[in-house]
Amino acid sequence: MSWTIIATWRMALEGVSKGAELLKENGSASEAIEKAIRCVEDNPRYGSVGYGGLPNYVGEVELDAAYMNGDTLGIGAVAGLKDYANPVSVAKKLSEDRFNIFLVGAGADAYAHMNGFERKNMLTEAARDTWKARLKEVNDKNLSPYDGHDTVGMVVLDSASTMVAATSTSGLFMKKPGRIGDSALSGSGLYVDSEIGGATATGLGEDIMKGCLSYEVVRLMSEGLAPQEAADQAVQAFSEKLRRKKGVAGAISLVCANKKGEWGVGTNVEFSFVVATDQDAPQVYLANLENGKTVYRVVDPSEIEDK
Ligand code: GLY
Repeated sequence: MSWTIIATWRMALEGVSKGAELLKENGSASEAIEKAIRCVEDNPRYGSVGYGGLPNYVGEVELDAAYMNGDTLGIGAVAGLKDYANPVSVAKKLSEDRFNIFLVGAGADAYAHMNGFERKNMLTEAARDTWKARLKEVNDKNLSPYDGHDTVGMVVLDSASTMVAATSTSGLFMKKPGRIGDSALSGSGLYVDSEIGGATATGLGEDIMKGCLSYEVVRLMSEGLAPQEAADQAVQAFSEKLRRKKGVAGAISLVCANKKGEWGVGTNVEFSFVVATDQDAPQVYLANLENGKTVYRVVDPSEIEDK
């Protein structure tokens, strides 16, 4: 494959299609991934990423994002960023720096401001209404805040053999202010090395970060495993370990690609993802766990409604 783009969740379809257009014209992985993730961040329909992302317990949208360049291993990340339109672009800019590459809260906001990123009130009316309703329910019924869909994460290989990975999320709905999940963490939410391949995760950050799972998938690929074997082995073995040690494993899904553009997916829940390559137009897949292994099939995008 001369280029490949793989992304978590059906919500990435429009962005992946735009990224694929760029890659087809020999555009760079860096340009394609930023465009693709910004497309998800800008869409208020998605309640777990960017504009329209669901807020924390006190009604504030706190955004986490990361970007990694597989040629240089340069990584940049923000967590708890408020009121900036495109966290992935802030993370990407940070990845070019030598020091202070992971900024949180007020420091991340100040960096975004100083570097001229677009300010935007990221809390939509719909998200505020959902938060108000959930606050009442949580108080009445002691509900779990976690509700499935979360990070958009992507791995891209371009025709110049550069690989990049990036993530963006508003994290757990109703999270405690200041809570950070896996998405901004190198090795957990994403990892990429152009000499091997890259991976990105979605699911319960508190569990994904216990296994540094994106790094683990890349490590397994470096030992010669095909992407599908690497992703499935990492997810299933670690889910099993969590069940053994803690009695429960949260939702964990990973997508990955190697330097040849071959791709794979591992999950312990139902999980949609999107792939485009120089040989295949963008397609949505639905993955599931069957008899201890991840299986997947192509689905019509209209079958899946990401929220
Ligand atoms: N996987 C995203 C989060 O836990 O915040």
